[in-house]
Amino acid sequence: MCGIVGYIGPKDAYPILIKGLQRLEYRGYDSAGVALLDDGNLHLYKKKGKVSDLEGEAEGKNQSGHLGIGHTRWATHGPPSDNNSHPHVSNNGEIALIHNGIIENYSALKEALIDRGFKFYSDTDTEVLVNLIEDVKSQDNVSLEDAVRIALNQVVGAYAICVFELDNPSEIVTAKMGSPLVIGLGDQEYFVASDATPFLEYTKKVVYLEDGEMATVNLEKGLKVRTIIDNKDIAPYIQQLQLDLASIEKGGYEHFMLKEIYEQPKAIFDTFRGRLLPDQNMIKMGGLFEYKDRFLNADRIIIVGCGTSWHAGLVGEYLFEDLARIPVEVEYASEFRYRNPVITDKDVVIAISQSGETADTLAAIKLAKQAGALIFGVCNVVGSSIARETHAGAYTHAGPEIGVASTKAFTAQVTVLALLSIQLAKLKGTLNETRYHQLLEELYSIPSKIEYMLKSDKQVRAISEKYKDAQNCLYLGRGYNFPVALEGALKLKEISYIHAEGYPAAEMKHGPIALIDENMPVFVIAPKNGQYDKIVSNIQEVKARNGKIIAIVSEGDEEIAKMADFTLEIPDSSEAFSPLLTTIPLQLLSYHIAVMRGCNVDQPRNLAKSVTVE
Ligand code: F6R
Repeated sequence: MCGIVGYIGPKDAYPILIKGLQRLEYRGYDSAGVALLDDGNLHLYKKKGKVSDLEGEAEGKNQSGHLGIGHTRWATHGPPSDNNSHPHVSNNGEIALIHNGIIENYSALKEALIDRGFKFYSDTDTEVLVNLIEDVKSQDNVSLEDAVRIALNQVVGAYAICVFELDNPSEIVTAKMGSPLVIGLGDQEYFVASDATPFLEYTKKVVYLEDGEMATVNLEKGLKVRTIIDNKDIAPYIQQLQLDLASIEKGGYEHFMLKEIYEQPKAIFDTFRGRLLPDQNMIKMGGLFEYKDRFLNADRIIIVGCGTSWHAGLVGEYLFEDLARIPVEVEYASEFRYRNPVITDKDVVIAISQSGETADTLAAIKLAKQAGALIFGVCNVVGSSIARETHAGAYTHAGPEIGVASTKAFTAQVTVLALLSIQLAKLKGTLNETRYHQLLEELYSIPSKIEYMLKSDKQVRAISEKYKDAQNCLYLGRGYNFPVALEGALKLKEISYIHAEGYPAAEMKHGPIALIDENMPVFVIAPKNGQYDKIVSNIQEVKARNGKIIAIVSEGDEEIAKMADFTLEIPDSSEAFSPLLTTIPLQLLSYHIAVMRGCNVDQPRNLAKSVTVE
């Protein structure tokens, strides 16, 4: 949560910071601010609201400066307000700082600083840190770099910070623990940010800081990286980014979410690339082959994740158990990490995360790693913290996902899980040759089936119009499509603020059926495979209570069409891959309903794309 960006070099910092903050706004968008250093003077602009509100605030004011830092906030300590916005400046007005993370022991540090005469003007933990740095610097008479390091050694918590001082226009100091931070190396200029998107047009040469490292970028002395605890120099590992600018822009779509829904055929195809080879009758997955024996001898697979990634994990449970006959447990990372779970070196833990930065998922895998489990990552962001913490993994190649509601990342995650489970089944001998080949062929055809389905968007829009004013919705599915019901409900509630619940269809009669009346739209995922007859009975139960039925059915289904108020068809597929298809109309429905209700689709209230706090 929170996005940070910094610039030092010959260009004007302000426009770079503003554009950078717009690209990072997905990380938090309740307030924003910039601090510019201009000939020893500080220009500080902070505003509750979006980056556009900050621009309004700074309009017509002095925006000069070749060094600057900027922040977009997702509130943790203290509500969104101008005062609580970053950057924060120390009491003597000499040091400015931005921070992404949480200082857990801030209150003890604050009391000690108050005793020493410091004053506080915000409710944030960040203001404590900037004053602690000022205190150390003046007490110990050390450089800013040393003061930051000494201060951080007193801090418990997570941070990515950027700091500068007014009397040093050539230097920015940064540090990382638990929140992401990347440094861009340009020509006589440096960029610092939560991810590389703010500076893609200027440089692709980057250094990702590791936890416990700090870096100083100095226009005369260059880049210096060292450890925070023992102050040891580290040789920076410079990487070349593969990301291009077009992939982080809207490309003519009204919203990122819509663009990302439409990108799914390509995202899945890119996730297949080099791995799914039906013409050679094989799946190639480096991470799986390297740890083949651990997978084959595992007592069980534990899948951890949060939100939509957890839903993908539930689809994974059906895939691994059904195809490869390996027992699976799917855990909310936040619960798993704190409930003293039994983990052994015979467990394989699969961690699923689009951002690769989710704090709970990261903590869960650290715990499982200590207990000796093999950790396999399914992440979308290359080089992210979770990707780096795992023993092996398979990236989803969905490309940057910017809309806060996850769409293409979900289908790409399910794709990786499908590839893994089919290949494991082959290695275990639970699939015969013919079925194996059929599955490879069929999986390969999924992108073109999604392409075809996306053409029925007009029909989805018409249904959305009908139900846009609903107060509550129910989503029902069985088997492989039960997780899709959960995901459909999550998509609707998070972007349209309509209350929605997902249930296994058969569970309806154990409680939720009491909610059904003529005002309750019920979205039923009912393709003609799996437990079709059972779900037809569930539809009848809804119908008997006057509920409105919108069913996702297989092409040509006449039986459900007779009972439902509306149907949306998906092309034929085996049950194992149907979640990749049934999800699509539900994503579109949520999207259109949210747009029709005037909601901010890409940046829903209270949410952030990357949840780096627990
Ligand atoms: C919902 C959504 C969230 C994320 C969750 C985990 O649309 O995007 O529920 O799935 O915050 O995030 P990652 O996958 O980055 O670990």
